[in-house]
Amino acid sequence: MAKKITIAIQRKGRLFESSKELLIKSGINFSTSGGKLLARSSNMNIDILLVRDDDIPSLVSKGVADLGIVGKNVLAEQAANSRKISAKSVLNLGFSKCRLAFAKPLTSKIKSLNNKVIATSYPGLVKKFLKKESINAELIKINGSVELTPYIGIADCICDLVSSGATLEANNLTEFKILMDSEAVLISSSSLKNLKDKTIIDLVRRFEGVINAAESKYVMLNASTNSVNKICKLLPGADSPTIIPLQEKNKVAIHALCSEPVFWETMEKLKSNGASSILVMPVEKILN
Ligand code: PRP
Ligand code: ZN
Repeated sequence: MAKKITIAIQRKGRLFESSKELLIKSGINFSTSGGKLLARSSNMNIDILLVRDDDIPSLVSKGVADLGIVGKNVLAEQAANSRKISAKSVLNLGFSKCRLAFAKPLTSKIKSLNNKVIATSYPGLVKKFLKKESINAELIKINGSVELTPYIGIADCICDLVSSGATLEANNLTEFKILMDSEAVLISSSSLKNLKDKTIIDLVRRFEGVINAAESKYVMLNASTNSVNKICKLLPGADSPTIIPLQEKNKVAIHALCSEPVFWETMEKLKSNGASSILVMPVEKILN
């Protein structure tokens, strides 16, 4: 029997639903009902630990969990603060996209961060940034509701996560510099190329297959034989399209797996280049 694998995911919060969906789409069946903190997969030799996202980098670094799903921002902040955090990001998961950014009150006239007071939940990353830019500023660490600090007069500006921007707007703040872009990442105790365990490697590949499939589309269309080359060039991220003869003379069907998004604009371009009956279909899984 294959070795048991342990995966740590967030118990509740912004990452939870998408993390759970990714595991289920990857073929891992489990239930999180009843407030359980450990969910055993019913069809694979996998345990899922339901924990606070802040604890995931250290659980993976210590080897308590083989894999974890956490925000790139959380991993980077903890790595900036402690040498004990050795977990590595092995796959970008494409969900929970946000950015760590500096913001100031709409009425503020500040031009630079020099000699300013910055409130943040990410002192490790901010400190690193200030050092790199040779900026001298004071940091106030605050764990939540960072957006309130300029208003109550304890900071000139903030550095916090921005997703839709609604929290900044609601608090009359405006973003002026991005420190890092973030999204959910799959982490493991070592980098992908140093991973030894075949069961873990296969699982990472499955996750990758689900992530790639989410962006991929299967495109089918008809075209006249003389427009085939032009049309194939327009198919985004298509490897080698299949060309099938049609009953009508000088007409073919083109089928292609597009690894990049197919927008309406792309479809309109295909049409104006002679394509007709353009179908764009979702792809469930990909194994390359
Ligand atoms: C996060 C973050 C921002 C907000 C950004 O807070 O710290 O405050 O979300 O999202 P938005 O741009 O879509 O408004 P969260 O809700 O996780 O609460 P916390 O900061 O108090 O932990
Ligand atoms: Zn917040």
